[in-house]
Amino acid sequence: MRVLYIVVIIVALAVSLTTDAEETSSLHLMPWPASVKTTASSQPLLIQTSFTVGLHNASDPTLRRAVEIFLTDLRRHTGSLPLDFNISNDSGDAQLKVKSEHPSKPVQELGEDESYTLEVTSTGGELSAPTTLGVMRGLQTFLQMVEITPQGFAVPSVVIQDKPRFPWRGLMIDSGRHFMPVEVIKRNLDGMAAVKMNVFHWHLSENQGFRVESKRFPKLQEMGSDGLFYTQEQVRDVIAYAHERGIRVIPEFDMPGHSTAWFVGYPDLASAPGPYTIERKWGVFDPAMDPTRESTYKFLDEFIGEMAKLFPDQFFHIGGDEVNGKQWEANPKIQQFMRAHSLKNNADLQAYFNTRVQKIVAKHGKTMEGWDEILRPDLPKTIVIQSWRGQKSLADAARQGYRGLLSSGYYLDLMGTAASHYAVDPFADGAANLSDEEKQKILGGEACMWAEYVSPENIDSRIWPRAAAIAERLWSPQDVTDVNSMYARMDHTSQWLDAYGLTHNTNYVPMLERMTGGSDAAALRTLADIVEPVKGYAREQLAASEPTSLTPLNRVIDAARPESATARQFGELVNNFLAGQIKPGMELQIRSTLISWRDNELQLSASAQSSSIVQEVMPLSHDLSALGTAGLQAVDYLDRGQKAPDGWKAEQLAVAQRAIQPRAQLLLMVAGPVQKLIQASAGEKPTDLVLPKNASD
Ligand code: ACM
Repeated sequence: MRVLYIVVIIVALAVSLTTDAEETSSLHLMPWPASVKTTASSQPLLIQTSFTVGLHNASDPTLRRAVEIFLTDLRRHTGSLPLDFNISNDSGDAQLKVKSEHPSKPVQELGEDESYTLEVTSTGGELSAPTTLGVMRGLQTFLQMVEITPQGFAVPSVVIQDKPRFPWRGLMIDSGRHFMPVEVIKRNLDGMAAVKMNVFHWHLSENQGFRVESKRFPKLQEMGSDGLFYTQEQVRDVIAYAHERGIRVIPEFDMPGHSTAWFVGYPDLASAPGPYTIERKWGVFDPAMDPTRESTYKFLDEFIGEMAKLFPDQFFHIGGDEVNGKQWEANPKIQQFMRAHSLKNNADLQAYFNTRVQKIVAKHGKTMEGWDEILRPDLPKTIVIQSWRGQKSLADAARQGYRGLLSSGYYLDLMGTAASHYAVDPFADGAANLSDEEKQKILGGEACMWAEYVSPENIDSRIWPRAAAIAERLWSPQDVTDVNSMYARMDHTSQWLDAYGLTHNTNYVPMLERMTGGSDAAALRTLADIVEPVKGYAREQLAASEPTSLTPLNRVIDAARPESATARQFGELVNNFLAGQIKPGMELQIRSTLISWRDNELQLSASAQSSSIVQEVMPLSHDLSALGTAGLQAVDYLDRGQKAPDGWKAEQLAVAQRAIQPRAQLLLMVAGPVQKLIQASAGEKPTDLVLPKNASD
């Protein structure tokens, strides 16, 4: 009896689960699951060529398709042959047994159960979920754990129980300002699925382009798109592709403003006589639909009816943002209408328009969604508000009983750090004091990729990998906030996403090589690796001439990463070095990096002779060289234990201050860490270098 008791204890210990940080920190999962336990001392599951997925409920075609996609992805991540790996209709002795209690909905719905449980041991994995949607999420988790080991590709032993924090985790892509071909959309849908995002918000009309084929009003795309639009067949293809990956597709047709492209073919919709041409500049413009004419609503009824059939999702986004009202103010008939209907101002007139449009959207079976500006108590509580202005307006909506989602803080086009997006929580700041009931109204959020400065070539590099940090914020528990862990997993995820054909990493060097005329781009890369585009809306403000939709996006600013991983890692290295957390080789690494910066200019000058694009960044290159020299001298002083003289310190701090000024709309992100080395060598406490205001407006 006693022996048996001991055996039971030993067995219990052997299979005991651990949440030990060391154990789980080696997992590259992103978003981080609600609960992860690694099985102590257990062996991983090897992915062999005989790998088979057994389906418990093989009759659900969506489930089968999800597993087919999973096996294709598994081939990509292991370099296996197309004929490897199998699906079996019963779980039998399959290596991964998959069980979905219920099929997911034919048209994916907001709030469908996405939870799953995944258990992996050395003998096999079991994935079970209430719905096929949960299976899709769990398959991504399984994939993300595939890693090369001394025994071959394998998945560690784990027990994961997971579910999303928010039901709405979106990415908006603006195909209006710059058209994005179908393959761009599809590879980004793959990226979204990999990080468990579930809403693709497709911004389809803008002043600069109307991007969907309308059969009822063909002049919309014929005259409003420069020939760059999606056919209805292509739209259906994208929706089917998204559906197979558990992603809803919500179209946005922006009205009554942001709508010049509509008026090129249909000038009578506008509030001032035409003719109109496609807008080439960026900004907020005067043209707006005429809310006072019945013909406007007749048009929208037919148009929305057509689009409501094309896009099966429950939600229909009408935009509603940034109407400046100038055409309304200049039109006597509209002014007379406002007086007759007691509409006191432009906001009242827009609210009247929204009320009419909401009835049309509802008539066609859809729920209306719009940006903050549409929030008015006269609209029914069913509508959804997307906040680009902040948590406060989201909270205001929730208090009035409206559902909403957050995009303020998640604008990828503003070139913020992943950490800055990661720190934005839909329940924080202005929304911190909501009651539990009001919090229920907050559905989640969406990352937004506005397209003034992106082309099919560089859009992925503006979305990824930073969108993965937002995806984690919206999926993972609220207390998953460790920034170092996030960056470590995001860096890994960035490489991981290469397998889906996303080009955020792969287009970088070819873009730089084009700038150097096909010659060796190594020196340009050394510089490009540590610069970032200016932040916020500073790019417009610092432009030498007004940018338009015809301006080439082929400069260093267009290739440079929104957040330089090299600069971030160098900054961490310097912080640790100065904090005395010195590891072997650390000083050598700092020195060799500084030397490479100091000596880079000589090489880069050669390219500059023959490239206007390289010439533009030579002032930055010059300062990088000076930073390299200053940093090396600072490390010398630190090594000798000698306090740097005041005169030298003042000169070198001026170098750092000059280096952080924007040139070519770029920022030298290593000026900050070098400033810290200078300060420390002079016996001062290192401080962060503040970005100049004109670089971050
Ligand atoms: C917006 O940024 N105007 C939605």
